[in-house]
Amino acid sequence: MNIVIIGTGYVGLVSGLGLAKLGHRVACVDTDESKIQRLDMGEPPFFEPGLSELLHDMQNTGHVVFTSNIAEVLADAEIIILAVGTPPGRNGEADLSYLFTAAESIGQNLEHEAIVVVKSTVPVGTNRQVIDRIRSVMKERGRDDLSPLVQIASVPEFLREGSALQDFMNPDRVVIGCDDEIIFMILDRLHDGINGPRLMMSVESAELSKYAANAFLATKISFINEIANIAERTGGNVLDVAKSIGLDKRIGPHFLKAGLGYGGSCFPKDVSALRQLAGVKGYDFKLLSAVIEANNRQRENFFKKVESNLVNLKGRKLAVWGLAFKNNTDDIRDSAAIDLVQRLYARGAELVVYDPEAMANARRVLPDGIEFVATPIDAARGAEALLILTEWPEFRGVSWPTLLDSMVEPKIFDGRNLLADLDLAKWGFEYHGVGI
Ligand code: UDX
Repeated sequence: MNIVIIGTGYVGLVSGLGLAKLGHRVACVDTDESKIQRLDMGEPPFFEPGLSELLHDMQNTGHVVFTSNIAEVLADAEIIILAVGTPPGRNGEADLSYLFTAAESIGQNLEHEAIVVVKSTVPVGTNRQVIDRIRSVMKERGRDDLSPLVQIASVPEFLREGSALQDFMNPDRVVIGCDDEIIFMILDRLHDGINGPRLMMSVESAELSKYAANAFLATKISFINEIANIAERTGGNVLDVAKSIGLDKRIGPHFLKAGLGYGGSCFPKDVSALRQLAGVKGYDFKLLSAVIEANNRQRENFFKKVESNLVNLKGRKLAVWGLAFKNNTDDIRDSAAIDLVQRLYARGAELVVYDPEAMANARRVLPDGIEFVATPIDAARGAEALLILTEWPEFRGVSWPTLLDSMVEPKIFDGRNLLADLDLAKWGFEYHGVGI
């Protein structure tokens, strides 16, 4: 099929390359011309395992093209996928301006029937607004005949950063929200080669499914973090508790890792947007308010733990391992690590930081006084404490005797419980995890 994807962020680019791999002809469109030029030269705009290789492969097959010229590629489009950002607005609501701008350019340029698929995470009711926008722009330019032939479907994307390609090809389910059996069949065919059950439902249910999934997972994380806080006060160990409850099939083992709370470009934004949407509809979604509060408190708890142990942060030399919001990504959006580094710096700590992928992005937002180094051991040299803020597996491979020799004080504050099973006390470290 001929596909146009508007937006080349995580969802748009991964979906575009994934669909190209399945044999479709894909045109990826973005208004950011420099991004399009870089993509055209085979340079992905962000780090994601396997993405660079897939980009080169698909460019070699000729199945994917990159352009800023939407009019040109719409001419052949059978399916138009909207995957633009929906960043948080001033009150936590989703900002839909990119989406509506894209809808307008479809309305202005499309000359034949097509299915418009919304993959961006959007509040319930947005898909209907998008199709209304497209049709009214078409009518304004005298194409009343065409406007009923353009259909809408909501196909939310559940991929995670760090395993985006794998998730795209092997989703737990493919949700297709549409009004019509024929659209469902076409979109089912679009996903031929992708594993996972297909679920047909209304557009509204599909929109809500995405928010519900993210809000539920965020709730699970806040819940286990609350248990961690109780464990610290009662002598329990959250790792044992998580293992025990995770084996209960009704609960499941995933998203029960206690730590610094959730971050990234999705959970914080989507939990707030769902709470805000509920509010607009006259419903106070109290549970989500508690989830957000617990998540904010988790960072604060960690900060206080470090501060009370070191007594005074001013002039203390601290090593930081990890800046990304989670491992396997260079994304620092709403990263607990960045937030904590900023707070520690504001209290006068001297910070030496290392991250395998996220240092270029972090340099843009962190103060100049923070030192960036090339290895975990370089960060630890002369440090009075080491803070682990992102769960990069490579940190587990460090030589503990070398680390011990490098540090002035052998204190480790592990915000991700990454080293909790390694019994670092036996090497002479003072180890502080979360909830253990
Ligand atoms: C999330 C959803 O998982 C995905 O389905 C959706 O499409 C986009 O949002 P992502 O933001 O890439 O994906 O990361 P995810 O792996 O879900 O982690 C989100 C945050 O929660 C990270 O900060 C991570 O460190 C944290 N987390 C995750 C925990 O603190 N504990 C856990 O057990 C799991």
